[in-house]
Amino acid sequence: MALPSILQADVRGKRVLVRADLNVPVENGRVTDTTRIDRFAAGMRPLLARGARLVILTHFGRPKRGEMNPAYSVDKLRPALSRALGVEVRFSDVCADNSAVILSNALRDGEALLCENLRYNEGETDNDPAFAAELAKLGDIYVNDAFSCAHRAHASTDALARLLPAYAGPLLIEEIDALSAALEAPQKPAVAIVGGAKVSSKIAVLKNLVRKLDHVIIGGGMANTFLFASGAAMGRSLHEADQVGTVREIEALARVHGCCLHLPRDVVVAREFNAHAAHEVVPADACPQDAMILDAGPEAVAEFAAVLEDCRTILWNGPLGAFEMQPFDAATVALAQKAAELTRAGRAVSVAGGGDTVAALNAAGVAQDFTYVSTAGGAFLEWLEGRELPGIAALHAAECAA
Ligand code: 3PG
Ligand code: MG
Repeated sequence: MALPSILQADVRGKRVLVRADLNVPVENGRVTDTTRIDRFAAGMRPLLARGARLVILTHFGRPKRGEMNPAYSVDKLRPALSRALGVEVRFSDVCADNSAVILSNALRDGEALLCENLRYNEGETDNDPAFAAELAKLGDIYVNDAFSCAHRAHASTDALARLLPAYAGPLLIEEIDALSAALEAPQKPAVAIVGGAKVSSKIAVLKNLVRKLDHVIIGGGMANTFLFASGAAMGRSLHEADQVGTVREIEALARVHGCCLHLPRDVVVAREFNAHAAHEVVPADACPQDAMILDAGPEAVAEFAAVLEDCRTILWNGPLGAFEMQPFDAATVALAQKAAELTRAGRAVSVAGGGDTVAALNAAGVAQDFTYVSTAGGAFLEWLEGRELPGIAALHAAECAA
């Protein structure tokens, strides 16, 4: 069921109350990566041009419950947001109060107001209807454009959707379309590359993926646990000895659904967990006792690349090795480049998401070559689990009620 798009609504002269995700990385009070701001703003500029009066809500970080800690003020986002929107964004130092309502009513067509961190209010994370009712006073219509917060049932993503005419924003729609194309109706064959440290944090993801896709390539610390389950020597490698049962379940589920699981056949090991530590390549079942697995080996990369060659859809979450330390980023970089090359050649659709994933693709210099890179971390994972996201469900429910 398609979501109602704000692009189809008449916005001129209306206060458009939009939930954004401007939760961006900041160092020393300055935004270090404006991706979320820029992608949000690209969708909002046409609305401003059509005379919308934007009232922007966001959270930033995780302040302690109810504490107004200035370290979490969103005022510091204003320069980057103003640049990206092409208008000088005004600021309200509260998001639920008379003064914010007055500022929202003072907006003229094509102007924008940013409200202070939603999470300064306990009512936000409590999904408190009374707090949502306060927020609702700031707008004539509501837009959720924060796909990356859609896994949170908070006042601004859930309760608020029931109080005003509710629409989906351009970035949220773009995310859902791209992710659906890769997971719900993928061009076959389809492969997922799933990396990261722990099987235990991605059990639901793996179980859902093996049901839906033809191949799943497993990398990172997670691969170690699969190797351990098949009797491989682990040395000092990160692995979860208590997840052997889970591994067996996932393997059985993959067999039932005809999904081929791929594990590295060789690995890069080192004695120290440092960049440029002395390292060697060994068979995946033969990690020396005093060493640890830090990356997939060259044979594994060649085999994984051959799987990618055969696929028309590539879904990626999580790095294959300790990618933040050279040279243990080699497998991640090589496979990212392969996925990028196949995408550029028009042979595959590639979709990636999750915090570390995007950082890894950026480090490999290929993020721009992927068909789609999600702005979402946790929400992307929950989507991969096949879960209904509360923020999306709220928009559907609001539409049914309308
Ligand atoms: C994110 O950065 O993934 C989103 O902004 C959600 O933030 P949260 O995990 O603090 O809810
Ligand atoms: Mg792209």
